[in-house]
Amino acid sequence: MPTDLTPDDVDTLHVTVPADVDPVQLGSGRFLFAVAGVYMVGAAARATGRSLSCTPRKKGRSPMSIPATMRALQQTSLKGPQDMRLITDAPVPSPGRGEILIRVTAAGVNFADISKAHGTFLDGPRPPYLAGFEAAGEIVAVGEAVTGPLPGTRVVGVGNGAFAEYMVLPAAAAVPVPAGWAEQQALGLVVNWPTALAALKPLGGVTAGQTVLVHAAAGGTGQAAVKMAKHYGATVIATASPSKHDTVLVLGADHVLDSLGGDIAAEVLRLTGGADVVLESTGGITFDASLAAAKRVTGRVIVYGVAGGEAPITNWELVYKHQIHIIGLNIGTLIQAAPQMFGEVMGEMFALYKVRRWSSSSGPCLPQ
Ligand SMILES: NC(=O)c1ccc[n+]([C@@H]2O[C@H](COP(=O)([O-])OP(=O)(O)OC[C@H]3O[C@@H](n4cnc5c(N)ncnc54)[C@H](OP(=O)(O)O)[C@@H]3O)[C@@H](O)[C@H]2O)c1
Repeated sequence: MPTDLTPDDVDTLHVTVPADVDPVQLGSGRFLFAVAGVYMVGAAARATGRSLSCTPRKKGRSPMSIPATMRALQQTSLKGPQDMRLITDAPVPSPGRGEILIRVTAAGVNFADISKAHGTFLDGPRPPYLAGFEAAGEIVAVGEAVTGPLPGTRVVGVGNGAFAEYMVLPAAAAVPVPAGWAEQQALGLVVNWPTALAALKPLGGVTAGQTVLVHAAAGGTGQAAVKMAKHYGATVIATASPSKHDTVLVLGADHVLDSLGGDIAAEVLRLTGGADVVLESTGGITFDASLAAAKRVTGRVIVYGVAGGEAPITNWELVYKHQIHIIGLNIGTLIQAAPQMFGEVMGEMFALYKVRRWSSSSGPCLPQ
């Protein structure tokens, strides 16, 4: 349990702590404890054997009132995000079994929002639908069978309809916003960063001294990948549009190539002799450059995006042209099919945040 949290980092609820939870004394009769991964503080705690009961820190706090309708951004076609409009009468969703309702204070804009708006996301929503899927905010209600996180906790997660005032999330996948972080800093915590880290480490096997080619390096996932690859001691070659080159260099990339022109594979081979790991999220014509840039026999190409369209590779090419490893990545599938690997990725990620004092999002924020 982290003891560097303070009572102000967490909210307090009336709760009886299970017998197997060890609280940490904070002084002034206050205790910090974790239940189901949620950190809480008891302002007037009393230890009774192996159990502990806490009274609310904010006396007289009344239950939060939840309106029946809310403002939300509704996507009305599959022609792109320009067909998104503000509506003011969207029903506030109710949390079902195992779900929580949050009051959204920050929402992330991801490439998947664009693919959904164009109808290219596999099994994506049909219009009209409430747009956005990644949000952070305070839990205001919980559904049946939810034992944690509890109302008052700030969490970040993914669901449907994040560009709205309220949103339902699956409780099991909601991650508490780390202490000391604003909600917008926690965006990226459950999508972009784990994707970038899974690509680099368990799948890409990056080690110090290796070369990593990161496509779309100025995007959310790309920025996380550049920072972490540098942390692991890799030489980073990034690709980005010319107007974004400075962004990528500030993050620590050793070289930046124009994603809109030039021979990317030839440049990677000239600079480093080939990439050990390629983070391939662009597809289209860039896919062939990624294959050609990877080191023969040992190079790993992690494919996790198709922004520029589909691109084929044949068994003939793998035998006679590109003797490399190609690995597909979908973070949702990884969570379901390899939960232990996902747990290790999240553990490593939080350790990195602590060591490097990073937050998961430092991107631009729009006012509400
Ligand atoms: N598989 C997974 O689980 C998973 C999870 C997260 C993200 N992703 C994928 O990772 C990629 C990045 O996602 P993100 O949310 O980090 O994206 P983002 O922040 O929106 O950045 C996307 C970047 O992609 C580049 N790009 C290249 N070709 C493009 C095209 N045809 N259309 C639009 N942008 C293009 C652009 O960079 P330049 O202008 O600099 O070229 C753009 O800045 C996407 O392909 C996304 O689908 C996959």
